[in-house]
Amino acid sequence: MSAENHPDSGQTANPQGGAATTLTGALVNESLVKWHIIAALFWFGIALFAGLFYSMQLIKHWPLPLIPVLSPGRIRMIHTNLIAFGFLTNAFFGMLCWTVPRLTGKKIASNFLGYAIFGAWNLIILLTYIGLHMGEAQAVEWGETPVWVDPLVVVGAVLVAIQFYTPIIRTTERAMYVSLWYFSAAFVWLGLTYIMGNFFPQYLVAGNAAGPLLGLYIHDLVGLWVTPMGWGMMYFFVPIIMKRPIWSHALSLVGFWGLAFFYPLQGVHHFLGSPIPMFAQYSAVVSTIAIEIVVTTVIINFFTTWKNGNTSIGNNIALRWFWLGAFNYALTCFQCSLQVTLTFQQVIHFTDWVVGHAHLVMFGVFSFWIFGMIDHLWPKLTGREWYSRALREWHFWLMGMGLAVMFLTLTAAGMIDGFMALNLVPRETILNAMQPFWFVRTFTGVAIIAGFLCQTANMYLTARAGRVTHIDTDYAPYEELEQETTVGTV
Ligand code: HEM
Repeated sequence: MSAENHPDSGQTANPQGGAATTLTGALVNESLVKWHIIAALFWFGIALFAGLFYSMQLIKHWPLPLIPVLSPGRIRMIHTNLIAFGFLTNAFFGMLCWTVPRLTGKKIASNFLGYAIFGAWNLIILLTYIGLHMGEAQAVEWGETPVWVDPLVVVGAVLVAIQFYTPIIRTTERAMYVSLWYFSAAFVWLGLTYIMGNFFPQYLVAGNAAGPLLGLYIHDLVGLWVTPMGWGMMYFFVPIIMKRPIWSHALSLVGFWGLAFFYPLQGVHHFLGSPIPMFAQYSAVVSTIAIEIVVTTVIINFFTTWKNGNTSIGNNIALRWFWLGAFNYALTCFQCSLQVTLTFQQVIHFTDWVVGHAHLVMFGVFSFWIFGMIDHLWPKLTGREWYSRALREWHFWLMGMGLAVMFLTLTAAGMIDGFMALNLVPRETILNAMQPFWFVRTFTGVAIIAGFLCQTANMYLTARAGRVTHIDTDYAPYEELEQETTVGTV
C-alpha cells in the first residue's frame, strides 16, 4: 500500500516533511547535530570504561586500588550518570536539532542558544563527572549529580524547552506529527522530573515518604524523558529510512496518551515488598500492566511498517539497528510483565536480573536506536559515504552479541541468586556462585567496547578520509520541491 493512501495514517505525503521552501543548510544547523553526536560518543566512551572497570571490581580484579578518587563506588555512579545525561541526552539534543525544524518547517529559536545549550550541558556533565570523582554525590540514584550542579540542570532544561518550543509554536503545519507530541511533552516532563527527584527528597521530604519519590524519579527519567525521545526518534527516522509512513498514526497517538497517563503512576513498582503502603504498590502494579498495552502499540507499529515495506535489514544497517532495538523492546516488555508480579519480585529483587533488564532497555533499545540514527545521519553530516561497510558490520555484531550475552548471563545469574537467597544460602556463598557469570559479563563489556571503537574509528575515517561523496536522497528531494509538504496529518 502506498504512502499516500494508507487509510489509517491518512498522510498525504512524506513523513520527512517540513516546509520545503528552506534548504537543509538554512533550516537545520547541522554543525550542532554533529557536535552533540560527538559529545554523546565522547561521554559514552568514558561510561563504557567505567562500566568495564566496575565489572572488574565484582570479579575481584579492581585495576586501580587505593586511589580514593577512583574508588569503585564512584566509578559505578560515573557509569550510570554519564550514560543517562552525557550519552543519551546529548544524542537526543542532536536528534532534536535535526528533527524539530524538519517536522515544523521552522528553525530552532536561535543558533547562539543552540551553542549555549551545547556548552552549558556539557559543562554540567563535566562538573558531575568531577564531582562524582571527588565524592560529592547526592544520595539519589541516577540523580547523584552534586547538589550544586542541580540548579544548572533545571536552567538547562528551561533553555532546551525555549529552543524547541519556538519552532513548534511558529509552525504553520496543520497537524503535529506524533514525534512532536512526544517531544513537546518531554520538555515539560524533563524539568519536572528532575526537580521532583533532586530537590524534593533533598530538602522537603525524607524517610519512607522519600522512597516512592526516588522510585518515581528513576522511573520517570526513563519513562518521561528517555522513552518519549526514543519513541519520537524512532517514529521520525524509520519512515524516512523505509520511505513509507508508519503503519498507523492513530495507534501511535494512543501510545502517546497512554504513556502520558499511565507512566507517572508506576514508580512504586521499584519498591514492591517494601514498607510503602500496599494500596500504592498495587496501584503501581495495575498501571504497569496498563503501560504494557501502550508499549505494545509501538512494537506493533514498528513491525507492521517494516513487514509491509521492502527495505531489507540485511542491507540497510540503520534499519537493522532500529529493528533490533524494537525486538529488544518487545523482550523488555515481556520481562516487565513478569517482574511486576509480587511473586516474581520475591525471587529477582536485588539480583542481577534487574541489572540485565536495565542494560537491555537502556542499551539494547534506546542506544541501538541512537546508533541507527547515527548510521543514517553521519554521511549526511559529513557529506561522505561511510568509509568502511565492514567496520559498520563489526560495530553492529560486536555490540549486538555483546549485549545479548551480557543480558542472558545477568538474567541467569539473577535467577540463581534469587532462588539461593530464598533458600537462605549465606550471602558469601551466593557471591562466590556469581563469579563465573560476572567473569563472562566482563568479557561482553570488552566486546561492546571493541564495537564502540569500530564505530568511532569509522566515523573519524568517514569525516577525514571518506572518498565517495554522499548524495542525499532522503531529505533533499523534498526540500527542493520548494513547496509545503504535509506531515503526519491524522
Ligand atoms: C562495557 C559495557 C558495559 C559494562 C561492562 C557494564 C557494566 C555495568 C556494571 C558492572 C554495572 C553495576 C551492576 C551492579 O551494581 O551490580 C552496571 C550498571 C548499569 N549500567 Fe552498565 N555496563 C556496560 C554498558 C552499559 C551501557 C551501554 C548502558 C546503557 C546505555 C549501561 C547502563 C547501565 C545501567 C542503567 C546500570 C544500572 C543498573 C541498575 O542499577 O540496576 N551500561 N553496568
